Amino acid sequence: MTMNLYDRIPNNVDLSEDKRLQRALEKWLPNYLDWWHDMGPDGFQDKDVWLRTAVDVGSEGWAHFDYVKMPDYRWGIFLEPAQPRAKVGFGDNYGAPAYQEVPGEFRNSLRRIIVTQGDTEPASVEQQRQLGHTCPSLYDMRNLFQVNVEEGRHLWAMVYLLQAYFGRDGRDEADALLERRSGNPDKPRILEAFNQPCDDWLNFYAFTMFTDRDGKYQLSALAESGFEPLARTCKFMLTEEAHHMFVGDTGLSRVVRRTAQLMKQSPNEDVRASGGIPLEIIQRYINFWFSYSLDLFGGEISSNSADFFAAGLKGRFKEQEQYTDHIAAEGSFTMQVVENGKLVPREVPLRNALNEVLRGEYVRDCEKGLARWNKALADEGVSERLFLPNIRFHRHVGEYAGHDFDPEGNLITREEFEQRKVGWLPSVEDREYVRSLMHPVTELGKIANWIAPPASGIKGKPFEFEYVRL
Ligand SMILES: [Fe+2]
Ligand SMILES: [Fe+2]
Repeated sequence: MTMNLYDRIPNNVDLSEDKRLQRALEKWLPNYLDWWHDMGPDGFQDKDVWLRTAVDVGSEGWAHFDYVKMPDYRWGIFLEPAQPRAKVGFGDNYGAPAYQEVPGEFRNSLRRIIVTQGDTEPASVEQQRQLGHTCPSLYDMRNLFQVNVEEGRHLWAMVYLLQAYFGRDGRDEADALLERRSGNPDKPRILEAFNQPCDDWLNFYAFTMFTDRDGKYQLSALAESGFEPLARTCKFMLTEEAHHMFVGDTGLSRVVRRTAQLMKQSPNEDVRASGGIPLEIIQRYINFWFSYSLDLFGGEISSNSADFFAAGLKGRFKEQEQYTDHIAAEGSFTMQVVENGKLVPREVPLRNALNEVLRGEYVRDCEKGLARWNKALADEGVSERLFLPNIRFHRHVGEYAGHDFDPEGNLITREEFEQRKVGWLPSVEDREYVRSLMHPVTELGKIANWIAPPASGIKGKPFEFEYVRL
């Protein structure tokens, strides 16, 4: 596997050896660049941004830092090196040689999975495209653009799989990925979290904390796949994804810390007077993005998840490290479902509950973020705490969709939900208030009043570094 960095499309998949694929991708490239110009970050395309670019998949080379203008970013196709004698790691074909081609009977569902994952990547760039205009600091602006260019590269990763392994329909799907638009009523993005507005920085941090973290769990499950090209693609995407979640987790932590500081400074802990974001608004943004992100895992009880596991295509989180029984044909899983207007336990075969098992892993990971933010509150001497709402709250997919729950997970009536939701979810006034604080701060070393500075800069540079040359 050689690294071809100076090809028109940088790659480590020997693209020049496969003329048909190379032609298809080179035909897609100008359409991608048109999309980036139309829908990528607005207003900063000609600025030098201190960005990380993947130039190798090894531990050193994948993070090369330099000033780059975003349209010149070297988006490429990079897969983790192949494992010799790779095997299917779970399901009915456990131990068989890994698939190098798409298994025929799963072609359509596997294509759907790749398209759905692929669709989220450009969608998030579209959702975030105006945020550069209101950045709280140059450091944050740079992180936003880093996330954006890498989501663009993740789109390349999925388009590579579609074009290399799914023939003509793969090419059509690759084109359609550039045609849908986040939030557009006529041609929306596939998943609802990716049609929600992400037009202020509190939204951005909550999105990268909760929604990018869903990506981590989906990619981790696919990184276990017995379809080796998919596994190798997802493994490399995960190295980049860690930074996106860092941006969200530390971003929210910094907002929370600043709010706590402002609370202590004002006599009645009213942070609005001093231009901070009240904790209850932060809580409502958490409730909103956490619940939408839970939907991304799919239905609690799912025959698709069972089929995919049986086929060795989508595994569990850390399948090899965490489990000894990779067949999972025997066990069961008990979850709460709504029956005749009541919550009752239901036992389902484990393989049918794998969406819920993955969602549980995700929730535990999110809780660690909450613990860090609550520690920031405690450090600053504030007694209030933030929390994750119950997994049943505000769901639009799966067993709990169509029912109403309070943030503690109690089943309530639609009327009660409607009456109380202003306390639970961001209201128009909340969003307007947050937007009213969003004024750009772009002087070196300066930061907006509503957020604390980061503990350190990027890659050994100080916070005062000129991350974007305006
Ligand atoms: Fe991504
Ligand atoms: Fe991401």
